[in-house]
Amino acid sequence: MRTHYCGQVQAEHIGKTVTLFGWVDRRRDHGGVVFVDLRDRTGIVQIVSDPERTPDSYTSAEHLRNEYVVRITGRVSQRPPESLNPKLPTGEVEIYADEIVLLNAVRKQLPFQVSTADTESVREDLRLRYRYLDLRRERMASNLQTRHQIIKSIRRFLEDQEGFVEVETPILTRSTPEGARDYLVPSRANPGEWFALPQSPQLFKQLLMVSGLDRYYQIARCFRDEDLRADRQPEFTQLDMEMSFMSQDEILSLNEALVAHIFKAIKGVDLPLPLPRLTYAEAMERYGCDKPDTRYGLELVNVSDLVKDSGFKVFSGAVADGGTVKVLPIPGGNDAISNVRIKPGGDLFKIAAEAGAKGLAYIRVRDGSIDTIGAIKDNLSEAQKQELLERTGAADGHLLLFGAGPTDTVNATLDRLRQAIAKELNLIPPDQLNLLWITDFPMFEWNEDEKRLEALHHPFTAPHPDDTADLKTARAQAYDLVFNGYELGGGSLRIYQPEIQQQVFEAIGLTTEEAHDKFGFLLEAFEYGTPPHGGIAYGIDRLVMLLVGEESIRDAIAFPKTQQARCLLTNAPSGVDLKQLKELHVASTYEPKEKDA
Ligand code: AMO
Repeated sequence: MRTHYCGQVQAEHIGKTVTLFGWVDRRRDHGGVVFVDLRDRTGIVQIVSDPERTPDSYTSAEHLRNEYVVRITGRVSQRPPESLNPKLPTGEVEIYADEIVLLNAVRKQLPFQVSTADTESVREDLRLRYRYLDLRRERMASNLQTRHQIIKSIRRFLEDQEGFVEVETPILTRSTPEGARDYLVPSRANPGEWFALPQSPQLFKQLLMVSGLDRYYQIARCFRDEDLRADRQPEFTQLDMEMSFMSQDEILSLNEALVAHIFKAIKGVDLPLPLPRLTYAEAMERYGCDKPDTRYGLELVNVSDLVKDSGFKVFSGAVADGGTVKVLPIPGGNDAISNVRIKPGGDLFKIAAEAGAKGLAYIRVRDGSIDTIGAIKDNLSEAQKQELLERTGAADGHLLLFGAGPTDTVNATLDRLRQAIAKELNLIPPDQLNLLWITDFPMFEWNEDEKRLEALHHPFTAPHPDDTADLKTARAQAYDLVFNGYELGGGSLRIYQPEIQQQVFEAIGLTTEEAHDKFGFLLEAFEYGTPPHGGIAYGIDRLVMLLVGEESIRDAIAFPKTQQARCLLTNAPSGVDLKQLKELHVASTYEPKEKDA
């Protein structure tokens, strides 16, 4: 019988006999005395065995190797002063092993060392291939524990304090309208027909509101077949919520209380509430993006009106074509950033070019005056230069980087530069946690490939009540929660009147027949007495990643997929038997390339 976990044995247990189970983290031999660091999920404790004090366990102790599984019974003792380890919670004690029972040995060479004492960095593909060993390591074990604590704190708040009910929604379902590619599952029982895995529980949670559930939540698995990035997985987990009879303000404050509850439970911090709010338009204007990292300044300054008549064609032309000229003012940038880096071939130029910019105009501020180069120099009047300094707050040592062109490109360019430069100049306070709401998103964005408007959030998002006259340019009652520059969550108030829903479908070019074909069941449900409702969903994996301070979402998930959407541990996806395909009435159209064959 286990009496304690390893990490729990402390000074108060001195003199007691304990029985522990765990893995050998390390075994060291010091002149005939064997020291074993014994590890379980709670931590490490030091076991000692020597031929004089513990002759019965000594032979087994000698034979132990890393990662062997053992049971140890022994007496807890005070460590001698020279071997106290204040870094370990168990660092005051050691256990003299009366008995060591080997429960299982390691039969193959370990692909990497598990011990925390081993600081060698392990390739991620190896970690993923042997994930069960990787999860034994302190960093991942602790990430999983924190993930569990986060979900637990969510459940406690929503269920115990706010009366939310968890409902599971189907995994085998119809395509949902979140806009990514679907994962499809062929139906054996219905030849030629397919289920889609849910991109989110969106439609079901709205139906639950029609059912009168009033406050729903779910820790919901979602599936999206989209290009992967460091903060995306094909299969991920949402905290999904939906509420009836609440205004946007009420929804946002309830969610702020939820987030504050999580941050208190996990980080011990009191988030100042209410959280700041920025409209989408303001965020785009000041940061060039809708998920701004507000832990540092470097705000963009619009100077279109100032330079629209200047002789510098890059500026005046951009404004004349309906575009924008904006400045990214960088304090200290004059010294930190050389011309070579801004000109073609330079790293900052490359960042700008990848965002679609043709070039980067710049100005240096030295000795209290503007030191311009080339075309800008001759085409800005003294008064304009002075005004530039005032508007951008530029003083000695500033570098001003200009974006000029179509507004989207300018924003994308300066947003990327802003982030890169903040990192480079160490402007990001490491321990700061900045949360803010972005509100008033536009209803639609233009899809250039398909030459049509597309719902920015999804087609069930309600327009702003002041903007119903022209839906095409309307703002939506939609909101995102942004955490240190990441989109943590997003939601909206929903349309519950069929007339408005119809208009939205029209705006995105969906005919009545198409709309009924896709969402007929929802539209029909809405005919039977639908309450006003709204909701939100958070990316749990992202939240965990950010709260434990990891840079990859994979480090927040027990068994993640690679950037190529593969599981290296099980080697999924894999081929299947022709027999299985036949049963499913599926034939592959894939033609293996020569190298695969
Ligand atoms: P949305 O599509 O914005 O909204 O998703 C909500 C949150 O889920 C997370 N997320 C992801 N996390 C990891 N990998 C992915 N591939 C991924 N995609 C999204 C993000 C995001 O903010 N049904 C709506 C919510 C609503 O309107 O209530 C929805 O799914 O953190």
